[in-house]
Amino acid sequence: MPTGSASAVVGLHWGDEGKGKVCDLLAREHEVVVRYNGGANAGNSVVVNGERFALHLVPTGVLNPGTLLVIGNGVVVDPGKLLEEIEGLESRGVRTDRLVVSDRAHVVLPHHKAEDELREAYLRDRLVGAEPGLHATGSPRVGQIGTTKRGIGPCYADKVQRAMAVRVGDLLRPDALRAKIEASCGFRSILFRELRPEGVPEPQAKDIIDTALAWGEQLRHRITDTTYLLHDRMAAGDRVLFTGANATLLDVDHGTYPFVTSSSCSALGIGVGTGVPTTRIGRVLGVAKAYCTRVGAGPFPTELVNELGDRIRERGREYGTTTGRPRRCGWLDMVATRYAAMVNGATGIAVTMLDVLSGMGELKVCVGYRLANGEVSSRFVPDAGELERVEPVWETMDGWDEDLSAVRTVDELPGAARAYLAKIAACAGVPVELVSVGPDRSQTIECRIG
Ligand code: GDP
Ligand code: IMO
Ligand code: MG
Repeated sequence: MPTGSASAVVGLHWGDEGKGKVCDLLAREHEVVVRYNGGANAGNSVVVNGERFALHLVPTGVLNPGTLLVIGNGVVVDPGKLLEEIEGLESRGVRTDRLVVSDRAHVVLPHHKAEDELREAYLRDRLVGAEPGLHATGSPRVGQIGTTKRGIGPCYADKVQRAMAVRVGDLLRPDALRAKIEASCGFRSILFRELRPEGVPEPQAKDIIDTALAWGEQLRHRITDTTYLLHDRMAAGDRVLFTGANATLLDVDHGTYPFVTSSSCSALGIGVGTGVPTTRIGRVLGVAKAYCTRVGAGPFPTELVNELGDRIRERGREYGTTTGRPRRCGWLDMVATRYAAMVNGATGIAVTMLDVLSGMGELKVCVGYRLANGEVSSRFVPDAGELERVEPVWETMDGWDEDLSAVRTVDELPGAARAYLAKIAACAGVPVELVSVGPDRSQTIECRIG
């Protein structure tokens, strides 16, 4: 039997739960950290001694010297962004020499980003409001997804379309690279000619080929077969941490489709995204905020479109790490959290941003959904159209006024905060194993509640 143990950190909501912080903490107990999905749409922040790092493609273990960092085959890599990120880290004294990239990861090319823009513009111009009825938040049922415009959807679409897709290994094969880029640019020029988008320049194959060849040279020493590498390292006894970008409710199969991203963000994606079977994973830590947020369009049953939502946004500094967009804020949705814990097989929960709820008065949590037919259900509804029609069933809990940012043990927490955590553990059916009370590494409580 192979040795070595594996853990995973995944987001339980719509992203930005604080996975970056939690991964960074767990990375210290692992020799290898692996990204298995998504691309530069992710923005994962880590704060070390007051110094803030925003990671997009580089796995979050990078701030722990000596960790082997792996970008798995399930990731879509924008090499320009990756090289920029590597340079930015190196210039701040962070070593990246132990970062490798799967030769089977797919490459995000300029025309993927252009198409991402084009599709969103097309949806804005043609389809918004085509179906009657807007969600209370103003998010249309048919319309823009509100993507990060990082080319994620078009790149994953090319991956499943197969013939013209470029993988990282192709960056080292000039003939294949040229043929694929010429074909895919040619195909997209039809779209550009038809739509004549203003402000989105038509991608030029020759320029893209030159750029891609240069990327290949810069990344050559990092490109490898990461599946064998991971199995070899596990066989040698290394502990491996899998880090999910984006989050479960944005998972292309299990999220609030179609308002999702294009990859398997939940722990279920680890197998396909790395070649390591999920049966090897002993610990799955699901990260949940003490409230909920969402960026982009799509249903959000517990959203607070009022002054309270604005207060949470300001206190939690809820602005996108990647795009700077204000995040939509709302109360904690326990139905969604429980569903996400179930889908991921979470063995524990990390609750972040507990400090943000101080002084908010009474807290509400959503413990059920009233469906369009009047029935009350404790089951999540992973279809955007149907989820839009549910009404939350609330439970009210006592809040607390104390500042939590200096708390380091469960015993120091106010009773109401402990009760809130116990409620989360009971609803999710798994223990709370970590509580975060501020962005810094040090603002963390290790515990076992529930
Ligand atoms: P990720 O995408 O899941 O890694 O999360 P992001 O980094 O995009 O967003 C989380 C934000 O909250 C970042 O700015 C973090 O520095 C910050 N953060 C993380 N944990 C806490 C916490 O417990 N309290 C507060 N106030 N901020 C936190
Ligand atoms: P992290 O790793 C928050 C959202 C986008 C949009 C939808 C599709 O920082 O938690 P895409 O560009 O992926 O096609 O956009 O998914 N989205 C995220 N929201 N955090 C993320 O990543 C996200 N990754 C994608 O806002 O609604
Ligand atoms: Mg983020």
